[in-house]
Amino acid sequence: MKIFTSIAEWQTWRANIKTGPVGFVPTMGALHKGHISLIEASLEANAITVVSIFVNPRQFDDKQDFEAYPSNFQADLAVLEQAGVDAVLMPDATQIYPDNYRFKVTESEFSQQLCGAHRPGHFDGVLTVVMRLLNLVKADNAYFGEKDYQQLQLIRDMTTAFFMPVNIVGCATVREPDGLAMSSRNQHLDNRKRAQAAKLYTALKHSRSANEARQTLLAQGFEVDYVEDIAGRRLVAAQLGSTRLIDNVEI
Ligand code: PAJ
Repeated sequence: MKIFTSIAEWQTWRANIKTGPVGFVPTMGALHKGHISLIEASLEANAITVVSIFVNPRQFDDKQDFEAYPSNFQADLAVLEQAGVDAVLMPDATQIYPDNYRFKVTESEFSQQLCGAHRPGHFDGVLTVVMRLLNLVKADNAYFGEKDYQQLQLIRDMTTAFFMPVNIVGCATVREPDGLAMSSRNQHLDNRKRAQAAKLYTALKHSRSANEARQTLLAQGFEVDYVEDIAGRRLVAAQLGSTRLIDNVEI
């Protein structure tokens, strides 16, 4: 497995790939089975699989959330090596943002709703880093989780709008046995909150309306950012103490 911290070295290696297709899985590390499912989908459909680990400062609207974001590069690299990944891109922020974020991708409608309404600038940060990574990796197929449903839709729309030559593949949400969607942020939950967190999925699945789900969650002590039905899906974001959880289900 090749590991690149230098973008120049990555570009030299990329230019020498003679076999395709190339699959790409962007991540912020602290890898779990949700990430692995994307990587397995890529390994199955592509000759080369590239994973990036970059905790993107520009998509954190909250400095504390950025500083507390879990990272364990050594464990992540062992998992990727074991899975059979070909190359890992681990640039730092100065490599990804040589322009110091002078140039960015802004979406002015959907990115302002749901999570975007509660996290100013978040989706500009996501779209900008994904555009940069896709331009660097030049993948045929790029894999994103339905767990971050609004992110997936915005990335799809961006690649269409800018005629980017990449196929965006959406992958089903991987859950813990009790239904909680796997997330790097789940590590922040203590035992009591971890048990409570599973009720987010239960409320989404078993309520007959977004409003009913909201009432159930409020009664269970969640601080609800939103519950909304959009295009056949029910999407939720809620806080348990200082941990923000998101999820969505088909309705
Ligand atoms: P991160 O939260 O590390 O997630 C990386 C990818 O894994 C995303 O596409 C996300 O939707 C997917 N994922 C996370 N949990 C999942 C689960 N339980 N089941 C299935 N897929 C899951 O999302 C990001 O990083 C960043 O915003 C990124 C796209 C890398 C840009 O910085």
